[in-house]
Amino acid sequence: MKVGIVGATGAVGQELLKVLEDRNFPVSELRLYASSRSAGKTVRFRGKEIAIEALPEGPLPVDVVLASAGGSLSKQYAPVWAQKSVVIDNSSAFRYDPDVPLIVPEINAQALKGHKNLIANPNCTTAILVMALYPLHEAFGAKRVIVSTYQSSSGAGASGMQELLEGTRAYLEGKPVQNKTFVHPLPFNVIPHIDSFQDNGYTKEEMKVLWETQKIMGDSSVKVSCTAVRVPTLRVHSEAVTVEFDRPVSVEGAREVLSQAPGVDLVDDPANKLYPLPYTATGKYNVEVGRIRKNLVFDNGLDFFVSGDQLLKGAALNAVQIAELLLEPVAK
Ligand code: A2P
Repeated sequence: MKVGIVGATGAVGQELLKVLEDRNFPVSELRLYASSRSAGKTVRFRGKEIAIEALPEGPLPVDVVLASAGGSLSKQYAPVWAQKSVVIDNSSAFRYDPDVPLIVPEINAQALKGHKNLIANPNCTTAILVMALYPLHEAFGAKRVIVSTYQSSSGAGASGMQELLEGTRAYLEGKPVQNKTFVHPLPFNVIPHIDSFQDNGYTKEEMKVLWETQKIMGDSSVKVSCTAVRVPTLRVHSEAVTVEFDRPVSVEGAREVLSQAPGVDLVDDPANKLYPLPYTATGKYNVEVGRIRKNLVFDNGLDFFVSGDQLLKGAALNAVQIAELLLEPVAK
């Protein structure tokens, strides 16, 4: 396939290059696009230097566009790219459009059928949540879900990571900590504010977790409440999750289900200090799940903790997995 990456210099764009290479995706030609600021820089792919191009107007000369350059750019250009290419869009611009499939390949690959050249890649927090939630939902019927997140700086892109590193250095040197990407200084802080506040008091990030979980799982009866918090880590989003199920559930039963779930690593041996961590989940394709225990509030309730590399399963890996589905004859 001829592949184009829009946002090739960004945090997700860089991971897309690595994932395409690592998974041996059949790339016959690679075109890399970013803003005019980056035009002429080169990037190494499969031992060759490839020049970054300023994004042109109009359709792109590729079979598949992997877009990760923000919502406003996608809103404007994705329909144009979709005239000639299949677009896998990492932004939230089209995720809630009923005509646009929102895909996590392990969960709803079948929803790709009949796509109209525009496919949405989910919000990173949601992608990581549903990897653990969906297999449990299938087994026990999830009714209500309460999530608190611990989201890393790279969720805000490359500038978020840079701001955390520079701010931490400034803090340790006793200098003022600057913040531009985040609404408050992030070093040695936690910020319960990601994306804009909505009329109901939730942030848009928190509402995305509800909307997208229901769409991906294909079940609008599952209720979800999320508190999204930015924490001073570089990568990996972690989430503390409480689920009330329709049917009786046991810790052993949940472990059994999750140990067989694709894309999930059960890391649940607290006696040996083994549980999901950003340290161990960084750079990993699979999402780690652990700290599984019976919830003390709900009758059929479970608590667990999940850590997933949001630049990978929450973005680049999931996008490439969708592109892999396009190689299969049933995809359209
Ligand atoms: P550039 O590096 O040239 O600014 P991140 O999410 O890590 O912040 O990355 C955003 C990505 O989107 C970068 O690759 C950035 O390129 C790209 N980008 C931003 N604005 C545009 C634009 N107007 N046209 C094309 N690419 C853009």
